[in-house]
Amino acid sequence: MATGISFSVTATDGAARTGVISTPRGEIRTPAFMPVGTAGTVKAMLPESVAATGADILLGNTYHLMLRPGAERVAALGGLHRFMNWPKPILTDSGGFQVMSLGPLRKLTEEGVRFSSHLDGSKHMLTPERSMEIQRLLGSDIVMCFDECPALPATEAEVARSMRLSMRWAQRSRDAFGDRPGHALFGIMQGGVTRELREESAEALKSIGFDGYAVGGLAVGEGQEAMFGVLDYAPGFLPADKPRYLMGVGKPDDIVGAVERGIDMMDCVLPSRSGRTGQAWTARGQVNLRNARHRDDPRPLEDGCQCPACRSYSRAYLHHVVKADEIIGSMLLTWHNLHYYQVLMQGLRDAIAQGRLAAFVADFHAARAAGDI
Ligand code: GUN
Ligand code: ZN
Repeated sequence: MATGISFSVTATDGAARTGVISTPRGEIRTPAFMPVGTAGTVKAMLPESVAATGADILLGNTYHLMLRPGAERVAALGGLHRFMNWPKPILTDSGGFQVMSLGPLRKLTEEGVRFSSHLDGSKHMLTPERSMEIQRLLGSDIVMCFDECPALPATEAEVARSMRLSMRWAQRSRDAFGDRPGHALFGIMQGGVTRELREESAEALKSIGFDGYAVGGLAVGEGQEAMFGVLDYAPGFLPADKPRYLMGVGKPDDIVGAVERGIDMMDCVLPSRSGRTGQAWTARGQVNLRNARHRDDPRPLEDGCQCPACRSYSRAYLHHVVKADEIIGSMLLTWHNLHYYQVLMQGLRDAIAQGRLAAFVADFHAARAAGDI
């Protein structure tokens, strides 16, 4: 890894691993879940509250921050950590994936992606070189390569063409990133659900050499079974001594299945986004606080949960503020969901360290099968 950042695996259980990524801004315990702070905020949460849930690292987005407030502005104000008051590590996505979702607003060439802003229609160009520059201006601790994630449905030929373009962009990202002590650059594996393409992508990335390796192009509509099918072999194509990051995943059961298969890091908007629509995640599965069955329920959302929503409020109150579209409803449910995700990660880390992951996973599924209440 780049000087100043290191990864050590402290225990394994089957394919699963637990360990720690050490950075100048603090340690990241793995397997790690990274809350998403797209626009310089984890919506509805103060940064110190995000830290209190147990998060060691946040994800930020090149695409959103380059458009508003602008990477040069953030740099002039002392970088993203200071700007958003989050002193711990930040990983930034490179923009390739977010630009893809613009559809007709973008044009892809060998050079990069030309696109129109979803905010004001202004024209921009993202290339591997510009993405590396933006992520440097933001002060990101873990920088992601600029890649392309093909939209589904795609033919195998399209997935292959796209993956090979991403591998050329990975080399250009590596060259443009240069040598930055204390900052890491991660490559991103593509190749859809085709084993040979995943292997070719892994070999290309390994021959360039990165500080960590992401598995991209999953959770884009292929379904959990197909995703787990890829995760049965893809982590094994990557170096065992470097972190493996599954991008954009996922639901709690996706996370558990990914960790069982050797993934060390994940990110997803789900706990924060669904908190803003009245959805809660608990050991017993998903709970919709809008449902009238909570109207007169004096019990906490989740028995034993130590988050502020569960310690101080009833289901009846959460139902009321969600129905009334009160801001505190988003705040409390986002906090609970992020707390639940971090408790799950701590449970996974402890179980791996103690060699009892299979029993932990069996209990996880049994509690969900029992259902809410
Ligand atoms: N987020 C979720 N999937 C991906 C991906 O394939 N590439 C990038 N850059 N970000 C992602
Ligand atoms: Zn709670």
